[in-house]
Amino acid sequence: MIKLFNNRKDFDYFRNSLTTQSIGLVPTMGNLHKGHISLLEKAIEENDVAIVTIYVNPKQFGPNEDFDKYPRTLDDDIAKISAVALLLDKKKEIVVYAPNTDEGIYPEGFSTNISMGPMTQKLEGAVRPTHFDGVTTVVYRLFTITKAHQAYFGQKDVQQCLIIKKMVHDLEIPIKINIMPIIRNSEGLALSSRNQYLSESERVEALVLPHTLQKIEKLIRTKQDYKTFVYEAKANDKKWDYLEILDSKNLEMPTDKTQEVVIVAAYRMSSARLLDNILVTIA
Ligand code: PAJ
Repeated sequence: MIKLFNNRKDFDYFRNSLTTQSIGLVPTMGNLHKGHISLLEKAIEENDVAIVTIYVNPKQFGPNEDFDKYPRTLDDDIAKISAVALLLDKKKEIVVYAPNTDEGIYPEGFSTNISMGPMTQKLEGAVRPTHFDGVTTVVYRLFTITKAHQAYFGQKDVQQCLIIKKMVHDLEIPIKINIMPIIRNSEGLALSSRNQYLSESERVEALVLPHTLQKIEKLIRTKQDYKTFVYEAKANDKKWDYLEILDSKNLEMPTDKTQEVVIVAAYRMSSARLLDNILVTIA
């Protein structure tokens, strides 16, 4: 059995009754897939209580983005979480907080904006200038509302992960951040709620994204020239919003001190923008 809360008062009452020091948080915008579920499974494994939040945060969508059409599938999401709950150890508990009003996250009159600086302006931030302020602001609220001890995020959104880690460090928020690997479909496409916007033919075309990243990974691992390949890939296909090889610690250009790079890309198709990345250790 899972516990579901739709309003802040009830959730707070429940949260304040918990005495455990082992609460894991999985923040989501719903429309759950196996990527989200992998985070939940880890949160359950590592904590007494796992809290999944489901909230489509208006602050992280730009004016011409897909806030209105973002898939809202609460009943399905609850069914998927309940299926995970069936296999639960009896001592563990899953709690879902899915506020049905914005006040469930932002109290009336809320006007604070958390802005993290330069790292939020590149890559995704260059295309979506206010996006990461919305993400950091909502994630901060989710941390303070749930008072979780650990939180789980997906490597799929590598820039989001680094920004949240930096916020936690800068603001000395007492929470441990765990980053979990990317879950892909059998063809290699990273799972995403936005994949459902794709037509059949776009789904096939979208495979160019993981395939290109895999090719670059191979070139880096075998110490071949990857820069020409990247240059040509971008020159020959204008759908790349970005395709970069950066230091995975800070998303800066790699230096001789770099130990791991991330091949990070956004690919713009007519019905969706897809993100993906691969980490490569430099020997
Ligand atoms: P959402 O896109 O719903 O993703 C919720 C979490 O699931 C994020 O940490 C994301 O990185 C992770 N995730 C998505 N696809 C994944 C995949 N294929 N494999 C592994 N993990 C995956 O990211 C957000 O929501 C929002 O920005 C949020 C953090 C909830 C703030 O509103």
